[in-house]
Amino acid sequence: MKAVTTFALPEAAVALLSEIADVAGPEGWRGELADADALLCLLTDRIDAAVLEGAPRLRIVANAVVGYEHVDVRACAARGIVVTNTPDVLTEATADLAWALILATVRRLPQAERSLRAGEFHGWGFWDYLGGDLAGGTLGIYGMGRIGQAVARRAGGFGMRVVYHSRTRLSAEEEARLGAEPVSFDDLLARSDVLTLHAPLAPDTRHAIGREALGRMKPGAFLVNTARGALVDEAALVEALRDGRLAGAGLDVYEREPELAPGLLELPNVVLLPHVGSATRETRTRMAMVAARNVHAVLGGHPPLTPVPT
Ligand code: DGY
Repeated sequence: MKAVTTFALPEAAVALLSEIADVAGPEGWRGELADADALLCLLTDRIDAAVLEGAPRLRIVANAVVGYEHVDVRACAARGIVVTNTPDVLTEATADLAWALILATVRRLPQAERSLRAGEFHGWGFWDYLGGDLAGGTLGIYGMGRIGQAVARRAGGFGMRVVYHSRTRLSAEEEARLGAEPVSFDDLLARSDVLTLHAPLAPDTRHAIGREALGRMKPGAFLVNTARGALVDEAALVEALRDGRLAGAGLDVYEREPELAPGLLELPNVVLLPHVGSATRETRTRMAMVAARNVHAVLGGHPPLTPVPT
């Protein structure tokens, strides 16, 4: 059997796959698909019907990230191909990064650091480098899945109230444990001092934070996005930041990565990261291992460990 990978795998993943298959790629991986039984891929690989057409033996697409909007799951299902992702293993790293962005944005850390590097720090100044307080404020969470919950768990440590809006409501026990209050989408927008996004990208969440929603956000609020860029209408966000309607935004993801919406780079009140939510050595290794274990299971005739819903 043959497993093709689109990215460099850790040694442990190669060793596991080699128990059951020859491993090909990442160089020239597209040319290896004709007799591939498994494909390990990333969010930057569009796995559509045309790719599947050239891989008639494929039994599994092991997507080594959690989001899977880049995989045509329906086309895979129609061909009996299992699709898997990597839930759980990146939850804590991504929640940490969301908080890092919340802090960096509200306390204006990159701006302060840039100023120091530019030689503008001439000693402590009472009114210099001011940001805002988190304690006593309201954190709004859009999408209360695993990552949203991990973000909510950290909020108590910063003294923030948590409101959330999600496709699926948590149980009363979970809400009590997290201290999270369910609210309507309108209330989420109106009440959040910091709104952080953790929903998957789907037809009903695309541009959820569009011009109208931005207009309904609390004046002076902050927006943080570590989920998917297209949850936000980036052009409308640039306008809201320019107008000063929003105080700032912290973004790790973009609508058309690696491109950024015109105007975003020039804004002083945004913190921009290059999609690093899960970028820790430990987390990325776990993600690759989950993908390899899924391939090992499916090619060995067992059910996948983490299939995505079809
Ligand atoms: C994912 O897993 O979908 C992230 O965007 C990358 O870790």
